Amino acid sequence: MVIGFDSLSRYQEKNPYFGAIIGRYGNRIGKATFKIDTATYHLAANDGENTLHGGLKGFDKVVWDAFPNDSTGTLTLKYVSKDGEEGYPGNLSVTVVYTFTDDNELLIDYTAETDKPTVLNLTNHSYFNLTGDVNNTILDHTLQINADKYTPVDATLITTGELKDVKGTAFDFLQPHKIGERINDVTGGYDHNFVLNRKSDMPEPVATLADSVSGRVLEVYTTEPGMQFYTGNFLDGTNKLSDGKPINIHTALCLETQHFPDSPNKPEFPTTLLKPGERFHSQTKYKISIK
Ligand code: GLA
Repeated sequence: MVIGFDSLSRYQEKNPYFGAIIGRYGNRIGKATFKIDTATYHLAANDGENTLHGGLKGFDKVVWDAFPNDSTGTLTLKYVSKDGEEGYPGNLSVTVVYTFTDDNELLIDYTAETDKPTVLNLTNHSYFNLTGDVNNTILDHTLQINADKYTPVDATLITTGELKDVKGTAFDFLQPHKIGERINDVTGGYDHNFVLNRKSDMPEPVATLADSVSGRVLEVYTTEPGMQFYTGNFLDGTNKLSDGKPINIHTALCLETQHFPDSPNKPEFPTTLLKPGERFHSQTKYKISIK
């Protein structure tokens, strides 16, 4: 149900972040620049004039130390991103723990600490197709998202700063809708951050994806304020599964729990600033069931 390869070398080929941990800053930072206090930081412009998913060598392309534990069903991954790496300030120590629970959930737990003020936005970039077959698109999947608002973007996919009501638009997924139903109303397809209706600090249910043919259901829980819903608009068949099947447009989708795109330049958004002495903590759960 997720797009993936059967060997490490295939992941080392150019691919659009299949299954990867994204950082130091997931999603986009406008004009590849941000400020902390009076200091301006310049990042790699790897998405037009903007920076995307951590820059040229983001957390998806670095080697993490891995600590599998079969008795607890966990995999702990650790990485220290050096001060100045990809232009970001501060030595940032990141730990990501994957746990398979007895409730058919994959829990992803992120923690991080820094020795200088920095910004971060960690997410998981898994691509889902609940039919398990990329010969089918995801346009017949139904999706429900607990979000009254989303963050509109400009032509370069940078948030405008506005939080817009989903009511009466193709972004209203408060009730389940087929993804293909209104996708043509959205230029380029869905690639937008939803402002999640959340009330507590605990992981809360924010989205439900379902495929009526297989009966498979994927529920997303998170502590994050936002979620990027991306319909694989840039998948173009260049990448192929191990059995040779091309991964074409709209054959997989991402539900990337995150802070809002370009938050470092949007003081009105929930902050992505991390200071020394603070501990960043975030959790996301993907729960699978059959209906
Ligand atoms: C995110 C972005 C998309 C695209 C994909 C990777 O979902 O929002 O625009 O860059 O990652 O291809």
